[in-house]
Amino acid sequence: MLTVAVLISGTGSNLRALLDAAAEPEFPARVVVVGADREAEGFAHAEEYGIPTFMVPFAQFASREEWGAELGAQLDVWRPDLVVLSGLMRLLPADLVDAWSPRIINTHPAYLPEFPGAHGVRDALAADVAQTGASVIIVDNGVDSGPILAQERVPVLPGDDEHALHERIKPVERRLLIDVVRRVATGDLDLAAVSASAQL
Ligand code: GAR
Repeated sequence: MLTVAVLISGTGSNLRALLDAAAEPEFPARVVVVGADREAEGFAHAEEYGIPTFMVPFAQFASREEWGAELGAQLDVWRPDLVVLSGLMRLLPADLVDAWSPRIINTHPAYLPEFPGAHGVRDALAADVAQTGASVIIVDNGVDSGPILAQERVPVLPGDDEHALHERIKPVERRLLIDVVRRVATGDLDLAAVSASAQL
C-alpha cells in the first residue's frame, strides 16, 4: 500500500477527491497525513476521515529555508512514499525538493508548460486562449517545470471568468491526480524512471 502525504493551502477539493478515492478498499494508496502552510479550510476533509494534520505557518519563519526545514521535519515523522502538493500555494526551498524529488508531485490548473505559477487560470484567461488544461507533474526546482506525468485539455468557454473556468478544470485535475497516484502505487508509473529520462 502506497502511503501519501498531501500538502494544501486552501479548500482542498482535490484533496477531498483523493481521500474519497483512497477510501475505496481496492484503491492501492492511503493518505496518511495532510499538512498546510496556514489554517487551511481543507483540513476539515482530513478530520472527517480521521487523518492526522499538521500546520507549518509560513509567516512564523524567518526564511523560506527555515520554513521548508520544519515542513521536511514533519514529513520525516510520517515518511510517506509520496508527497502530493494539492493547492499548496508556496514555492518549496531547494533542499526540500532535493530531498523528496521525484517522490513529490504537484497538480496545476493549466496545460504546462503553458501558464505556470500561482495564477494559471487567470493567466490563461488574460491570454485569451481557446483552451487551457490541467497537469500533474513531478516537482523540481523550477516553477511548475518538472516532468509531466499526465495532462488534459479543457476548453475556455465564452463568458468564463476565473472561478467558472477553475471549477471546470478542477474535476479534470482530480481525475488525473487520482489516476497518477493509482499508477504510482501499482508500479505502472515509475517516478524515478520518468525523472531520469527527463534529465537526459
Ligand atoms: C487547484 O486547482 C490546484 O491545481 C491549484 O490550486 C487549486 C487548489 O484547489 N494549484 C496551483 O495553482 C499551484 N500552482 P483545492 O484547494 O480546491 O484543491
